[in-house]
Amino acid sequence: MVSNTLHPTIEVSPLIPTYKRFPITLVKGKGSYVWDEEGNEYLDFTSGIATCNLGHVPDVVKESVEEQLQALWHCSNLYHIPKQEELAAQLVKHSCGDQVFFCNSGAEANEAAIKLARRYFQKIKGGEAEIVTFTQSFHGRTMGTLSATGQENIQQGFAPLLSGFRHLPFNDFEALEQIPTQKTCAVLVELVQGEGGVIPADIRWVQRLEEICKENDLILMVDEIQTGMGRTGTLFAYEQYGIEPDVISIAKGLGSGFPIGAIIAKEKVAEAFGPGNHGSTFGGNPLSASAGLATVNHLVTSDRINEAFILGHYLKEKLEELKDEFAEIKEVRGKGLLLGMVVSCDALSIVEKAREKKVLLLTAGPNVVRILPPLTTSKQEIDSFVSILKCVFDILDRA
Ligand SMILES: Cc1ncc(COP(=O)(O)O)c(C=O)c1O
Repeated sequence: MVSNTLHPTIEVSPLIPTYKRFPITLVKGKGSYVWDEEGNEYLDFTSGIATCNLGHVPDVVKESVEEQLQALWHCSNLYHIPKQEELAAQLVKHSCGDQVFFCNSGAEANEAAIKLARRYFQKIKGGEAEIVTFTQSFHGRTMGTLSATGQENIQQGFAPLLSGFRHLPFNDFEALEQIPTQKTCAVLVELVQGEGGVIPADIRWVQRLEEICKENDLILMVDEIQTGMGRTGTLFAYEQYGIEPDVISIAKGLGSGFPIGAIIAKEKVAEAFGPGNHGSTFGGNPLSASAGLATVNHLVTSDRINEAFILGHYLKEKLEELKDEFAEIKEVRGKGLLLGMVVSCDALSIVEKAREKKVLLLTAGPNVVRILPPLTTSKQEIDSFVSILKCVFDILDRA
């Protein structure tokens, strides 16, 4: 703590209060569990907000990073970085994209996608470009990605936002017919809106969106920052939609907790970037690339994602059973292990009661409890989670 210079008697945190933090301090993690500084054990069904998809401190990633720690931590992108190239090759092999650009976070990945789309438009048409995004979407906190985001409450106080974004209603077929205008160069969409309330995009709506993009030579960009890396039961969520996006943005689960983000783009779009057009000091540096490579190698060579798909169904079924039992639960939705429970009460109160019972959960808006177990969870963990959740709703009913 430091003292407040205006009010020397008041102690203030040295941190700018951009987060409303829960009142626990986590100091250790392994698999699905974390421990606080008092030694309390929690079942973590948040996975660091869809980031620790392989659980906490997974051995496969730990070993790879430890080896890299002994060799070289950082070198600039002005030199070849073998693990970055290997990781790019794996991402290309297992997606519909051709080339990869690395950065450090989700917002930066979307920022790169936005810049790439604008440059592509400059090349083929020229003039000011417009990108279509959707209401309730979340694409990040930089000025560009904030402007792309479709939630006014998050944008408040940051005017002027960047121009060049048009927000259309999500999952609305009629709205799709408003695409394109003369200026439209791309569409950016989440296939399951995460922060916006765990809302899956309708499959036929997404397929119509792809058709419109193809008919009008627009770039289809999917924001897979929360849905990617096996979270929804396939490596990328787009695989379940029968589409082939031109640009895929990823981050979160890519590094198992090490900061790394990326876009994977089709060659015809990727060509719009040449040397000097975009860059990042840390993007895909040896340490984060080694974490990313170990993570992706594990996901594509093990049965982990299939297991997560099956476990996702199992958990959803169990939550549906709870819904039949408790009137407060209105809907269970989501894909794979990205699930949301719509409740008639304050979702945060459920999260807080669950934490008292040593289970960590998240919200996604005021009425949605977000459930994000690691892909490495088990049936037993899901069973014990569901029985604790049942206790929470029992307590709520008795109150
Ligand atoms: C869909 C989506 N896009 C972008 C972001 C921004 O990612 P980051 O916080 O790594 O910048 C997030 C983060 O929650 C996200 O869920």
